Amino acid sequence: MDMMELIRTRKSVRTFDGRPISDTDREKLKEFIGSITNPYGIPVKFVLMDAEEHGLSSPVIQGAKLYIAGKVPKVAHCEEAFGYAFEKMILYAWSLGIGTTWIGGTMDRRLFEREAGVHNAEIMPCVSPLGYPAKKRSLKETVMRAGVQANKRKSVSELFFENDLTSPLNEKNDIILKALEAVRLSPSAVNKQPWRIIKYGDKYNFYEKHTLNRTNDLWDVQKVDMGIAICHFMTIVDGKLSKETPL
Ligand SMILES: Cc1cc2nc3c(=O)[nH]c(=O)nc-3n(C[C@H](O)[C@H](O)[C@H](O)COP(=O)(O)O)c2cc1C
Repeated sequence: MDMMELIRTRKSVRTFDGRPISDTDREKLKEFIGSITNPYGIPVKFVLMDAEEHGLSSPVIQGAKLYIAGKVPKVAHCEEAFGYAFEKMILYAWSLGIGTTWIGGTMDRRLFEREAGVHNAEIMPCVSPLGYPAKKRSLKETVMRAGVQANKRKSVSELFFENDLTSPLNEKNDIILKALEAVRLSPSAVNKQPWRIIKYGDKYNFYEKHTLNRTNDLWDVQKVDMGIAICHFMTIVDGKLSKETPL
């Protein structure tokens, strides 16, 4: 599996061809999900749910027969752990040709939480449909992608810095350059790309640039975005994650 190729080619898929996921792919996915870990050591549980059996749908999704939800205990850094683990699943699904879309807003949240069996000590930040992409995107999906400029990302000079937020990073190491590009390509809620990296010495520090209004008191969707970006970085660089109080 060329991880960079998966990161480069993955796009949200909201229009599916209606075929159910094959037994072989479902088994592979289940096995992979069982092996996913994250550097926070916080357990993330996945629940596969048949759309018809559970009455699940999303106003932006067409033709998906299967959904996957993720649940995580409500503890410090749970959103980042969730983002990291769910993105691992998303990239693996794509390696099988299965399309996904991170969904944190456009769903009947109460229904999904009930069907996924989310209990009080847990949160379920996002779900995703799982299916084979249709040949052509629905008009709704095309309009949505245009609305958030889904094919675009901020430039390197807006995202990555050295020592402070005014000096753009002048990175020379090829592997790190690849990892930064993997971060830049990360999906994020409403495509806001709320991550900034500042390099101090030989450490790459991830910061959240908060830009979306909180829709609930329990968790912050842009911290889920942070987890996704950290997942992309650490997929390319075999680094060590430490949690520190910001300077
Ligand atoms: C945490 C998170 C939540 C998201 N929630 C939704 C959602 O509720 N509905 C939706 O259609 N897309 C949602 N998205 C998908 C983003 O809009 C999409 O990733 C972004 O526009 C970039 O497009 P791409 O995934 O095709 O690269 C979400 C993405 C993330 C990471």
